[in-house]
Amino acid sequence: MDWENLLATRTSRMKASEIRELLKLLDQPDIISFAGGIPDPALFPTEKIKDAYTAIFSSDNKGAALQYSPSEGYLPLREWICQDMQKHGVECDIDNILITSGSQQALDYLGKLLLNPDDTALVGWPTYLGALGAFNAYEPNYDCLYPNGNRSAKDYRQTAENHGGQVKFAYTSVDFANPTGVTLDRRERDNLLDMADDLDIAIIEDAAYQALRYDGDPIPPILALEIERKGTIEACRTIYTGSFSKTLSPGLRVGWICAAKPVITRLVLMKQASDLHTPSINQMVIAEVARNGFDAHIATIRKAYAERRDRMLTALQNHMPKGVDWTRPEGGMFIWVTLPKHIDGAKLLAKSLQSARVAFVPGQAFFADGSGANTIRLNFSLTDGDIIDEGIERLGRIFGEEGRKKQP
Ligand SMILES: Cc1ncc(COP(=O)(O)O)c(C=O)c1O
Repeated sequence: MDWENLLATRTSRMKASEIRELLKLLDQPDIISFAGGIPDPALFPTEKIKDAYTAIFSSDNKGAALQYSPSEGYLPLREWICQDMQKHGVECDIDNILITSGSQQALDYLGKLLLNPDDTALVGWPTYLGALGAFNAYEPNYDCLYPNGNRSAKDYRQTAENHGGQVKFAYTSVDFANPTGVTLDRRERDNLLDMADDLDIAIIEDAAYQALRYDGDPIPPILALEIERKGTIEACRTIYTGSFSKTLSPGLRVGWICAAKPVITRLVLMKQASDLHTPSINQMVIAEVARNGFDAHIATIRKAYAERRDRMLTALQNHMPKGVDWTRPEGGMFIWVTLPKHIDGAKLLAKSLQSARVAFVPGQAFFADGSGANTIRLNFSLTDGDIIDEGIERLGRIFGEEGRKKQP
């Protein structure tokens, strides 16, 4: 059977990465891994989740919990999200909220909603790899989004037309981004809104890490800033994607989209055609846990992750050789390291796994244009104190060796 002959062209961009092969080695017990991008399971609200399942199955709601349910999502959960969005300055009502199976599904739907083949999506250089994966299926071109850059709308438009399509949206991971840990400041958010108005495109605001702020003042979501400008969410071009994965549990697969009603109406049709609805019981459990002590739980995980971030930043300060630079995130799970130009992150990973037994993610895969070979992503949410010190010390050693080797 020659499957290649039957495959749709969109599959040509769905590739397994070589890095994944290398990272399979992570199962070995002596490896210190800063490669993951996931929450620490020890910090899941396991007891609360267990109690919520028990309460639901002991209630009159047990039938509904196991039944099909509306595509829009479980009403009490949409109500809770609405109230939470309002606390962040997003005046919306439940018809502006669609529950999705994680925010990853939201990104897939938004690619499906907006992209024709050869259209252009503006993304950061680097950007969230999963967003590129989701959008790739719709065969776009990518252009580089610099909220403070000086490229004109005309230039972006012309470049997109040269590729046979139009610019459709700008995608950005706004707070403590994956992979860089960097947050768009207020001015950058305003600039992005101005640019999107000039280009007449949508903004996809990926707020997956918004709740994980450890210090500094919260910055209003781009959607809130746009509502401030335009008076109502119905006049807004920003589509906000949220997630319970980093706060409560990624395994339950519950996220949401908040946007103007005409966008939500279309997405509900897409959800019906795709998986009908996000699992009813999981939505109920998330609603129950969110209503009972969400803020207290967030305070606990913020404290734990903030300590790990501080530990990693101090270790980097103590052990990294000259010529290595890194971000200082105010939240999230990642620190982004830039190495001297001649060092290749992927080659360094192979060496590091072999001789230092430390894993990280080489940065190049996060760049839609294939640049960024001299960057790497470090995760601090999964590893505790002393291990962080040990791992960074070992990394500092091999980074130093590599740096010296190539110097003239
Ligand atoms: C920036 C960003 N957006 C979206 C997601 C998808 O998360 P989920 O589908 O679990 O909500 C992730 C997961 O790592 C992420 O880092």
